[in-house]
Amino acid sequence: MLEWNWLCAPQGVTIMAEKIFIGVAWPYTNGYLHLGHLAGCYVAADIFARYHRLKGNRVLMVSGSDQHGTPITITAEEEGITPQEVVDKYRKSQLEVWDRLGISFDLFTTTGTANHREVVHDLFLVLLKKGLLYTATTPLPYCPKDRRFLPDRYVEGTCPFCGNPGARGDQCDQCGKPMNPVDLRDLRCRLCGTAPEIRGSEHFFLKLSALRDQVLAWVRQNRHWRPTVLNFTLRYLEEGLHDRAITRDIDWGVAVPLSGYVDKRIYVWFEAVIGYLSASKEWARLQGQPEAWREFWQDTTARSYYFLGKDNIPFHTIIWPAMLLGYGGLNLPYDVPANEFMNLGGGKFSKSQHRAVWVPDYLERYEPDPLRYYMAANMPETSDTEFTWEEFVRRNNDELVATYGNLVHRVLTMVQRNFAGTVPEPAGLDEQDLALLHQAERAPEEVGGHLGLCNFRQALGTAMALAQAANRYLDFKAPWRTLRQDRLRTGTTLWVALVAISALKTVTAPFLPFSAQALHRFLGLPGSVEDAGWSLKRPVSGSPLPEPKALFTKLDDSLAEAENARLVVQAR
Ligand code: MF3
Ligand code: ZN
Repeated sequence: MLEWNWLCAPQGVTIMAEKIFIGVAWPYTNGYLHLGHLAGCYVAADIFARYHRLKGNRVLMVSGSDQHGTPITITAEEEGITPQEVVDKYRKSQLEVWDRLGISFDLFTTTGTANHREVVHDLFLVLLKKGLLYTATTPLPYCPKDRRFLPDRYVEGTCPFCGNPGARGDQCDQCGKPMNPVDLRDLRCRLCGTAPEIRGSEHFFLKLSALRDQVLAWVRQNRHWRPTVLNFTLRYLEEGLHDRAITRDIDWGVAVPLSGYVDKRIYVWFEAVIGYLSASKEWARLQGQPEAWREFWQDTTARSYYFLGKDNIPFHTIIWPAMLLGYGGLNLPYDVPANEFMNLGGGKFSKSQHRAVWVPDYLERYEPDPLRYYMAANMPETSDTEFTWEEFVRRNNDELVATYGNLVHRVLTMVQRNFAGTVPEPAGLDEQDLALLHQAERAPEEVGGHLGLCNFRQALGTAMALAQAANRYLDFKAPWRTLRQDRLRTGTTLWVALVAISALKTVTAPFLPFSAQALHRFLGLPGSVEDAGWSLKRPVSGSPLPEPKALFTKLDDSLAEAENARLVVQAR
């Protein structure tokens, strides 16, 4: 008889906990979250955070509502409410989505706190003192009809870089380049369509030109970045880096910490990225350990990961690092695994066109895990991907229900019915038993290897390969047939399958936290999935298992048709 024990990892090995800071792009608080947002960064960040926590690492994952700037004021004007009312309405929805989808932020704050304002002012004043901020009068579009300057999204025109006729004053959505409004051609006022005049206005500028060489040298060291992120950033920097205005003629945002600028506010992007630091400080204070943020920002062994969609790349790989280099003494990003877009039916998810799958709607009708699964399996890691309801139904039914759920169901119900609901005893392991046990034993390390490198699709694929292998094993061993003649053999088969299921539970936990917790209980394991950590827990022979329920629900094919019809109605 072959021994199983030699396969087991040595117990009691302690590994130093790593410190992992996870910053996730702060969503503008001017609308409901849609699937494009989730696929862009929130699901990936959460999988990564859960994985590191399971491994016993120290994780700080923060983000918050980005509640300033023209995205908010424009929505306020469109909806006929105040900017604060816009923020309150959509922030509530953001918090509900994180809760119901299991996006496990350590803190999801807002840019509206006094703490954030203080940290922004500190950075502003230090950069000013170091000569990295200066004031200059700059030509800006001014609408004579509306009698106001037209910052950022209040002005539209043609992108000088790619020719997109619908570029906004802050950024071109087509080529991803940040913009100065006067760079645009054929300017028009977003409010009334008038061609604006150009008038002078005094603003603060960030001296990016002085920081460019330092940023470029740092970026060049980051060979481990995704090629899409690295190449975009290098190309951008090699074209040279221009100073950028970091204040605006607007009355909604963080004030300038100097007298004489009452009718100006700090540019939303300049202050929002500082949110990563201010949120860390707020978190530390809420922990009752006000200095704890330093572990993640000043300990040079800590690693910072920033999750965001590709339209946010330059702010996280150039501007925020430049600000950090200028300020000094704080960790720069270690990795920025930005995703491409997940498109809907061929076109980009777009709030303005109302053609989107809204997350609150989804959560009213379906479970969170199938969506998390879809997002991970189709994650736009290297190129754009698509969301279709047909593919959603197919993945749910074929992969979650038929492959994973069915495996669990077959094994747990046989144990219930034929072994009085207690974990059977293994006796005499053969080659197939050992092969599956070995694969189960290795799974945490293999899946973890991919997760650590932010290769989420590959990680999920490796996890699901274990489910497929376990199904093949079960079909081959056919415990339902051996039951009569050979109870010992049947018990062994089920025990081996239970070990594989337990490994599956662990390695799918970052992706499917709700199902993993349910399965953890069905396996008779104590405590929570989180407590069990990132290693294989073998079900103990003789221990009782509770009555299992289905982990996943089969969806009707007609669902896709109904949801597609809904999309068309919305888009009208
Ligand atoms: N609010 C921005 C967006 O939705 C992202 C801001 S990320 C931050 O595109 F780092 F600046 F906060
Ligand atoms: Zn462009």
